[in-house]
Amino acid sequence: MSTYAKGLEGIIAAETNMSWIDGTKGILEYVGINIDELAQKSTFEETVYLLWNGKLPKINELDEFTRELRSHYRIPDVMKERIARIPKEVEPMHMLRTLISELSFYDPNPNDNDVASARQKAIRVLGQAPTLVAAFDRSRKGLELVEPDTELGFSQNFLYMLNGKKPTDTMAKAFDICMITHADHGLNNSTFAARVVISTLSDVYSALTAAVGSLRGPLHGGANEGVMKMLNEIPTIEDVEPYIMNKLKNKERIMGFGHRVYKAKDPRAKELQKLAKQLAEDTGNSDLFLKSKKIEEIMEREVASKGIYPNVDFYSATTYHCIGLQLDLFTPMFAMSRLGGWSGHIIEQLSDNRLFRPKAQFVGEHNVPYIPIQER
Ligand code: ACO
Repeated sequence: MSTYAKGLEGIIAAETNMSWIDGTKGILEYVGINIDELAQKSTFEETVYLLWNGKLPKINELDEFTRELRSHYRIPDVMKERIARIPKEVEPMHMLRTLISELSFYDPNPNDNDVASARQKAIRVLGQAPTLVAAFDRSRKGLELVEPDTELGFSQNFLYMLNGKKPTDTMAKAFDICMITHADHGLNNSTFAARVVISTLSDVYSALTAAVGSLRGPLHGGANEGVMKMLNEIPTIEDVEPYIMNKLKNKERIMGFGHRVYKAKDPRAKELQKLAKQLAEDTGNSDLFLKSKKIEEIMEREVASKGIYPNVDFYSATTYHCIGLQLDLFTPMFAMSRLGGWSGHIIEQLSDNRLFRPKAQFVGEHNVPYIPIQER
């Protein structure tokens, strides 16, 4: 009776109240609210509350949630010492995967898996992850660590800890829009990884660690770095056409294009495109935006018939660059935001758990004789 779907394509493997995606029309909603509306009107904190609670918060509920999140901005001193000892060549995603796992050392009850405990752990990790990333980035550059400022929101505080000065409102809002648009996206690979791990009743830290490991892959969250590398490799707008055509001729994938679910332009790409255009103009990076537009035009002409359009990673690359982020921090930004979605899915999984245990189709041989080692 079982059917086999390579890559589990098209298989429904969980229920969720969080994201709804229409891949044909290019629509994304969080708890029924269109992503464009959330990007313009909400904040990352409010969006995470929405995902975890299935409703928008009232003023006092948002205040309480924000206060709790900010109370977790600090990391234990021992983690700061730990960060100082990490070799500076280490990729930030490897650092983040390792240190999210290590946060469990400083949790007296790391294995508590009831829903209330899982929420507490999730909010702690969400508060601390930006501090880990900013601390590591400053440490590897030989700069003094900047303590978090609990007067600041999630996005403002992160940029402040990273750069040592408060961001402008425009930059903080742009970054916050990136956080909102990346927060959740159905049963994507990293979210599935988190749900698979927590379904064994392991622990929240293990599930989040697995998710970070999945996200860094170039076919998933790592694609935003690939997009920036590609933009850097193309010297001028005139070079875009031969560069892309050559890659397509060699059957290479263009990073930031294509999606397992969307066969239309990813709605998050539309939102980030507006942001990238504005920021590129404001920061003297218009060439990056123009090159991106040109790539999109060529891809539309060449591969739109296969349902290949820009995904979330395509314009987030220019956006992050214009915000002033170093290339290897792009995927950690995705992770910081997606911790919201991963945690929401962990909570959903724990609320109605069933162990994930699919089957593999055996395609090997039977009745193979055992040959003694001397005779092989
Ligand atoms: N560039 C060029 N051609 C592509 C691309 C691309 N980025 N993506 C898919 N195609 C082509 C394939 O070569 C294939 O062509 P063919 O039928 O002529 O052989 C066709 O489109 C279908 O490709 P599939 O591999 O079946 O598509 P799949 O659903 O498995 O792939 C994926 C989705 C992995 C995201 C793919 O589009 C890709 O590799 N994209 C580049 C990496 C990327 O941007 N990843 C980020 C995704 S969004 C996210 O995870 C946050």
